[in-house]
Amino acid sequence: MNRYRVAVVGLGKIGLPLAAHLAGRGHSVVGSDIRQDVVDSVNAGRSHVMDEAGLTDAVAAVVASGHLTATTDTTGATSGAEVAIVIVPVVIGEDKQPDYRSLDIALRAVGKGLQKDATVIIETTLPVGATRRHVAPILEAESGLRLGSGFQMPRAPGERPPSTPRHWTLRSPRWPIRRPRSSPSSPRPPTAT
Ligand SMILES: NC(=O)c1ccc[n+]([C@@H]2O[C@H](COP(=O)([O-])OP(=O)(O)OC[C@H]3O[C@@H](n4cnc5c(N)ncnc54)[C@H](O)[C@@H]3O)[C@@H](O)[C@H]2O)c1
Repeated sequence: MNRYRVAVVGLGKIGLPLAAHLAGRGHSVVGSDIRQDVVDSVNAGRSHVMDEAGLTDAVAAVVASGHLTATTDTTGATSGAEVAIVIVPVVIGEDKQPDYRSLDIALRAVGKGLQKDATVIIETTLPVGATRRHVAPILEAESGLRLGSGFQMPRAPGERPPSTPRHWTLRSPRWPIRRPRSSPSSPRPPTAT
């Protein structure tokens, strides 16, 4: 099995179990979070997410084995990673629109550290099309890399048409996001990931 250097951005209820799972599979994982108390807790081998079966033991084991560390430096975490997974909140505001502020802060930090040929996976649930139209331009602007030729971004299962059953989506292979249509010189995307 290939083992990757992975950055997991956002060590919350979804991000920490994901980071611990990947670290438990032998990948070298750096988790990042804006909360210093979360980072300190993880680096001490403690899970701050209490309602996830087995997570306390899993975090203790992968921190002890050196497969999981945590930091508040998202750019630093990303600069050493072949895969960056972003899982920070996007909530719906009072105006019924997605509030992208947390995500955008995370994306700018990821973009600054993004390495050529890295893969970025957005696990945050987003409106359909937002990964291509909203996320990709930020990553391209901050990294100077181009989606498709400089970095890859498979479609995330959270970004799905409302009519698509979730179990079908999770079983489906991920496929590459194309570059935003506003870029006339788009290279052909790869055909599969
Ligand atoms: N893809 C999936 O399968 C799936 C499943 C459930 C939820 N979600 C989505 O995942 C998102 C996160 O959910 P959660 O329950 O883990 O949230 P959470 O609130 O438990 O955790 C989010 C973490 O992100 C951190 N954070 C916020 N801004 C950050 C930034 N700029 N940089 C680094 N860390 C930052 C927070 O400090 C927090 O620890 C939600 O938007 C939710 O819709 C996705």
